[in-house]
Amino acid sequence: MKNIDSRTHTRGESVYVDDMPVIAGTLYAVAFDSVVAHAKIKSLDLTEAEAVTGVERIFTYKDITGENQIGGIIPDEQLLAESVVDFWGMPIALVVAESEEIARVAAKKIKVEFEKLPVIVDPREAAKQNKLIMPPRTFQNGDTSAQWAKCEHIIEGIAESGGQEHLYIETQGAYAVPLENGNIKIYSSTQGPTAVQRTTARVLGLPMHKIEVDVTRLGGGFGGKEDQATTWAIMAALATHHLKRPVKCILDRMADMRMTGKRHPYSSDFKLGLSKDLKILAFEATFYQNAGAAADLSPAVLERTLFHANNTYNIPDAKVTAYSCKTNLPPNTAFRGFGGPQGMFVIEAAIVKAAEELGIEPTVIQEKNLLKDGDMFHYGQITAGCMAKNCWTRADELYNIKKTREEVDAFNAKNKLYKKGFAIMPICFGISFTKTLMNQARALVHVYTDGSVGVSTGAVEMGQGVNTKMLQVAATIFSISVNRVKVETTNTTRVSNTSPTAASATADLNGKATQLACEAILGRLKKRAAIELKANENDITIKDEVVYVKGNKTELTWPKLVTACFINRESLAEHAHYATPEIHFDTTKERGHPFAYHVYGTSLYTVTIDCIRGTYDIDSVRVVHDYGKSMNAAIDRGQIEGGIVQGIGWMTMEELIYNSEGRLMSNALSTYKVPDIYSVPKEILIHPLETEVDSLAIFNSKAVGEPPIMYGIGAYFALRNAVKAFNPSANIPLNAPMTPEKVLMGLYEKSVAFKSEALPV
Ligand code: MTE
Ligand code: HPA
Ligand code: MOS
Repeated sequence: MKNIDSRTHTRGESVYVDDMPVIAGTLYAVAFDSVVAHAKIKSLDLTEAEAVTGVERIFTYKDITGENQIGGIIPDEQLLAESVVDFWGMPIALVVAESEEIARVAAKKIKVEFEKLPVIVDPREAAKQNKLIMPPRTFQNGDTSAQWAKCEHIIEGIAESGGQEHLYIETQGAYAVPLENGNIKIYSSTQGPTAVQRTTARVLGLPMHKIEVDVTRLGGGFGGKEDQATTWAIMAALATHHLKRPVKCILDRMADMRMTGKRHPYSSDFKLGLSKDLKILAFEATFYQNAGAAADLSPAVLERTLFHANNTYNIPDAKVTAYSCKTNLPPNTAFRGFGGPQGMFVIEAAIVKAAEELGIEPTVIQEKNLLKDGDMFHYGQITAGCMAKNCWTRADELYNIKKTREEVDAFNAKNKLYKKGFAIMPICFGISFTKTLMNQARALVHVYTDGSVGVSTGAVEMGQGVNTKMLQVAATIFSISVNRVKVETTNTTRVSNTSPTAASATADLNGKATQLACEAILGRLKKRAAIELKANENDITIKDEVVYVKGNKTELTWPKLVTACFINRESLAEHAHYATPEIHFDTTKERGHPFAYHVYGTSLYTVTIDCIRGTYDIDSVRVVHDYGKSMNAAIDRGQIEGGIVQGIGWMTMEELIYNSEGRLMSNALSTYKVPDIYSVPKEILIHPLETEVDSLAIFNSKAVGEPPIMYGIGAYFALRNAVKAFNPSANIPLNAPMTPEKVLMGLYEKSVAFKSEALPV
């Protein structure tokens, strides 16, 4: 089945917040934000700005009627700065005017005096000064200290990965509309409608039921709108609350890049111990997460880093510690993979460094240590339905690892100006919110008297195709045409207390809730059919909109059956609740069974670098991916292709640069390079590993949203290998992204740069 949005998307008819027809009297809000990263606000003068014609009002923290507090996990973040700003881009005031242009002009006339305070941008420096978001956490299994003596090889080092701008095509924004009795309806581009509702209520000092949040779809979120869409929704709602007029607040691209948080950069120490036969005996890592100026989702992201620190390897003795470091950057936030990629980069870096020191291929260590059924993760969960080896073996069968490497070596032996690199990146990603309580969802299903169906859930469509999947669930359970089903907007008055659309778990959680609701209605329909057909209820089936008795077709069709139910005053609607069974986690012991299941995969990379320019091509990415049993192969393929390209972007070209003053220098698309059509891999092959293993996935169709981003890590190591093929002694820091500049520096790293014979001829 096609994505149900493909028609309106390709015709430009899909509606996003800024496309909605505005109501007469709508005002526009623009935030006035800090131009220093850490300072006391000595004075704020609004007079000149307020005098601009068309300015309705300028709000500061003094206008907040509830709490000036938007922190979700830890209450440590003000909506509008009171006496101190702690990141460049922190909102200080909100200018509301007749047009966005007027608001922008007025914002420029606001005068503020700062008294500068010391700025920290480096997480290790923050840790040294004990500036932490929360106490550090350690996950530990076995006893690493007892293992080191047994290790034949011990490798230590530092690995660093950079941040990443979400670059959703639709920037952050919201439209707040006043309703009667002081109620407010907010159209928000958010992954978390309930987060918007809850936090707006808190800031305005209203009960949650006075705030209704509605989401049609997002032009991308990628985690950037899990928590940080809330700010802009409250901005609009705050103005609406005071002015009783509709207010729109949409960020332009540069404001969005400057003011919102991104993927967390990490700097980490690792120590890896190997036996003589290359089994990993012990692994230790310390992660320094650059959280930015407030907690936002950093504690949860940090937790997932710890969960994924061993990637897909069986490491009985592991000890991993993570520090969430408070710096003066915009608070960093969820980004596809949610800390998992940052954790996995470190173990992969450790394996690569070990292989380099031993003069062997990293793939030997990787393959030897893959997880298998019955192994225990370092947080206590036992693997079941483990597909790590299956994916690797299948990839070898399909793509021939040995031959691929030999081709790369042969090419390198023949060519001096170009070198190829090869790498394998296997993945393992846990599915469920790491916070157990968030693994619940609800759905509301209406069957209308004409037999058409409306489905509401807590799922937010953001390009990942979840609405199509929800529609498929309803159509499958009822066995009716997909044309009879409509997926409604995501609205807090229809489905309440929702978890954000995140953790790749949306289709599972909301799909199961939809399934339960549909099954309840179906049960009543079957009961009615039995009465109408004078048959036994257990003999009734519905297939392709027709009722069957003991497998025999009857005259009773779906619309007739629905009508019969209605005439007999039986309910054609259902609200259902689903909570993932089996999962639990004890944070006092840092052990448990946090994930419903894991998703596995293996990717093979070949790349070519230009040894004069440092530029490169990703020749091919060949993947075997654990789908379970995909309920929509086209959507899942799209998720994998998109994830791979986004992962490659993070690992190879997207370079966020903050100067020492905490100012974002890569603040536009002219200075921040993202993958374009020319830089995507020349070939992407994706082979589904279809498995029948029973999982908690909806219809056994495993979650697919985030896992593929981690394949991108393979691009980093393939490029590194290509550089090494040219300059074997190059001492390349394990520091992502591998930009063309870094490739070039690696090619001509000092050990070789001045030896003329090493230069290409
Ligand atoms: N795909 C598209 N096109 N747009 C997005 O914003 N977000 C990703 C992933 N795929 C995203 C996407 C992230 S971060 C997550 S957590 C999942 O989709 C969320 O959706 P799911 O739970 O339905 O997989
Ligand atoms: N993944 C993604 N988003 C989240 C999570 C998680 O585990 N926990 C809270 N938000
Ligand atoms: Mo995704 S980072 O869990 O929104």
